[in-house]
Amino acid sequence: MNTNILQGKVVVVTGAASGIGRAIAINAAKHGAKAIIVSDISETPREGGTPTTHEIEAFGVPVRFHKTDVSQREQVDALVEAAAEFGGVDVMVANAGITLRADGADVNEDDFHRLMSVNLDGTLFSAQAAARQMKARGKAGSIVLMASMGGLSGAGMTVAYSTSKGGVVLMAKAMADALGPDGIRVNAVAPGTIDTHLLRTSPGIAEAAEGFRQRTPLRRLGRPEEIGDAVAWLGSDLSSYVTGIALLVDGGLLSVI
Ligand SMILES: NC(=O)c1ccc[n+]([C@@H]2O[C@H](COP(=O)([O-])OP(=O)(O)OC[C@H]3O[C@@H](n4cnc5c(N)ncnc54)[C@H](O)[C@@H]3O)[C@@H](O)[C@H]2O)c1
Repeated sequence: MNTNILQGKVVVVTGAASGIGRAIAINAAKHGAKAIIVSDISETPREGGTPTTHEIEAFGVPVRFHKTDVSQREQVDALVEAAAEFGGVDVMVANAGITLRADGADVNEDDFHRLMSVNLDGTLFSAQAAARQMKARGKAGSIVLMASMGGLSGAGMTVAYSTSKGGVVLMAKAMADALGPDGIRVNAVAPGTIDTHLLRTSPGIAEAAEGFRQRTPLRRLGRPEEIGDAVAWLGSDLSSYVTGIALLVDGGLLSVI
């Protein structure tokens, strides 16, 4: 569905070449964004297909690709600076995240830190850079952090991943308190099982997906676009009194046992 709820908003999305980030960026165009900055370590979608920027161009919305490794603070600062061309970022979506080939109770230290450097450091750097620019430009912006149902409920096969996403949920709450006086809202989105390359290729998670599907009240996996719409709502003024939440978008899975 196309709307104009993001009219006038400059949207920056990390990890936007593939999967959920790609859908968030494309949906921002469908919801009338003024300009979109697509950011990732590579422009090629992991699942294949045309680059996100090409899809957005079809909507006639100004779009840029900015190569960014979110674990590198100076690269994230440069990404947010790139939004100045359009008047500064209004909606920052810190979506980039990874899973590990070998997660669990015996996760090795190097892998653990590598995951944290993307899922936590990268999320923090993104929120900080956006908040700094929003404050400097006097914008009542919206920052959306990508958590997971795995950050609200633990799973033995994803000890590092769950730890990182639980951190993202609390980062949203704490940042909401820190930035609320400046009119900046910070929320997390916690997707359930969404059909992306990450889901299909993460050991353990891929095998568990069918079981999750059967237990999900809606009896299906989520589509990346459905996360895109939740993020669009949090980025828009329709959610102007919403801050500090973790919005669960999981087809009801975490509501049942
Ligand atoms: N797919 C799911 O079921 C699911 C569920 C809950 C949460 N999530 C979260 O949603 C987000 C997106 O997941 P997805 O399923 O679309 O994954 P994906 O692997 O399909 O896409 C992730 C994108 O992030 C990029 N990326 C990886 N490391 C990066 C880095 N250091 N800097 C910048 N970009 C980087 C990748 O290149 C890729 O394009 C992640 O934070 C993930 O943890 C996914």
